[in-house]
Amino acid sequence: MSIIIKTKEEIEIIREGGKRLADVLEKVSQMVKPGISTWELDKYAEKLIKDGGDYPAFLNYKPDGADTPYPASLCVSVNEEVVHGIPNKNKILKEGDIVSLDLGLRHKGLYTDMAVTVGVGEISNGAKKLLETTHRALEVGIGVARVGNRIGDIGHAIESFVRPYRYGIVEVLAGHGVGCEIHEDPYIPNFGKAGTGAKLVKGMIIAIEPMLNNGTKNVVLEKDGWTFRTADRKKSAHFEHTILITDGDPEILTAN
Ligand code: MF3
Ligand code: CO
Repeated sequence: MSIIIKTKEEIEIIREGGKRLADVLEKVSQMVKPGISTWELDKYAEKLIKDGGDYPAFLNYKPDGADTPYPASLCVSVNEEVVHGIPNKNKILKEGDIVSLDLGLRHKGLYTDMAVTVGVGEISNGAKKLLETTHRALEVGIGVARVGNRIGDIGHAIESFVRPYRYGIVEVLAGHGVGCEIHEDPYIPNFGKAGTGAKLVKGMIIAIEPMLNNGTKNVVLEKDGWTFRTADRKKSAHFEHTILITDGDPEILTAN
């Protein structure tokens, strides 16, 4: 594989898809409250995407190495779950939980990817700080996604920003190119060495997605073959945007 530079026409479509995705994820976030099941959130996300004439990108997605296709539209990862939590009718959100909502959308054949983590009702100060820091880590990564910089600069910026907080940065999962497929080159770790890796070029579209744990960086894959959770069962947060590399400031394609 190699890095795909998007055409003007492709960028137009992905920009529209990103707006739609951000709008759907905002609406789904507003449904998060004590008593709702993660399955209901998934069904709502799927309906909103389909009502817009688009397709949920994760549904039946089977990356290389996965044994089974992903069985839902939305990834819902609660508390110690890091990413790729499978929605379930029996998984009911409760006050104090934190929930990562990760969603992909295909609009006119092209893909965008986005995630947010939100609290259920009132959450602890510790959880608030984890969410806020992870969100800021994403902003820091986006801030260095500029022509002239390299992929390693993104991870380095995120890692340097997070270090004083002593959160675990998940290393086995990463950001990625996106657009023609849900996962394309380049692979974008949330840690790394400045000045290394591929150069950022105008017209690249990438998803940046830091995952921070309130404890060890180590994660384990659950028996369902999809859900990653923290090894020490401490809480984890995740934010993701799809962005366009431009001549100037990066453009967030999944902004509200
Ligand atoms: N945003 C997720 C990622 O980049 C996409 C998950 S695909 C799924 O890892 F199939 F697991 F849902
Ligand atoms: Co992603």
